[in-house]
Amino acid sequence: MPNPPDIYSTSPEVYEEYISAMIEQRNFKAVADKVLQELVEKPAARILDMCIGTANFERKWLYRPDYGGNLDIFVSGIDTNKEFLRYAAQHWPRGKPHALYNEDAVTFNTGLEHDILVMTSAYHHIEDRPDDKKVDFLKNAKNQAASNALFVFYEKFVSLFSNLQEQIASGNEFYARRIHDISIEQEINPTLRWALYNEMQLTAFRDQEYKVSFEQFEQDLKDAGLKITSKKKLWPSPPLSHMMAGDWVVTARKA
Ligand SMILES: C[S@@+](CC[C@H](N)C(=O)[O-])C[C@H]1O[C@@H](n2cnc3c(N)ncnc32)[C@H](O)[C@@H]1O
Repeated sequence: MPNPPDIYSTSPEVYEEYISAMIEQRNFKAVADKVLQELVEKPAARILDMCIGTANFERKWLYRPDYGGNLDIFVSGIDTNKEFLRYAAQHWPRGKPHALYNEDAVTFNTGLEHDILVMTSAYHHIEDRPDDKKVDFLKNAKNQAASNALFVFYEKFVSLFSNLQEQIASGNEFYARRIHDISIEQEINPTLRWALYNEMQLTAFRDQEYKVSFEQFEQDLKDAGLKITSKKKLWPSPPLSHMMAGDWVVTARKA
């Protein structure tokens, strides 16, 4: 029997529907605000998006005419999903210079030095067991960063877990609340519903989604030689069973 489909193997269009949810776009705005703030000083910045996916962030925020608009930036993006990159290339805003690499972001080096490193829902897709690839991933970003580069993360953290049952419970808790909260502010159409429940399953069983606690992320940043310069919780309120679980935008620089 072939594996049943998941959100990363169906089609880029399904992922686009999922990432267009209001909560995700609001979170992207928080990332874009950090990037645009940095661009005031570095208008011709080189940006590296590790795990760029369909490049929804760039298309919907960085290059949005009433937002970033006519930026003088160069964006490089790495992702292992060929179909997502094809979609990104096809929909890339006309005339905006970019390079997309169908490579592993844990090991691939673009050969360029970047001013801003963007990682949106990227770190939690990198395995931490049995080998600790998360730290290698962060180090690989750091190796392609200028000395004063800004690292901007949008990450989803789950409650602490120490066995399979707690792991499943932490994933279920995260998505049960998310689906509840999304249903308050928008219609959940069948595609979005399927995508959200699929994310819940992948997270609970750690299949392509290796979400960890905020505390582990902090430790991994330290181990990679990065220091947090700002952190802001974006969702949810009231908190999940662990205060730090939820969506965060975090910035860091080389330690
Ligand atoms: C949740 S999506 C995030 C995509 C995009 N950053 C966004 O916020 O919409 C995670 C992405 O990570 C990619 N990915 C997973 N492991 C990867 C790896 N080792 N190297 C590069 N990309 C990877 C997947 O293909 C997928 O596009």
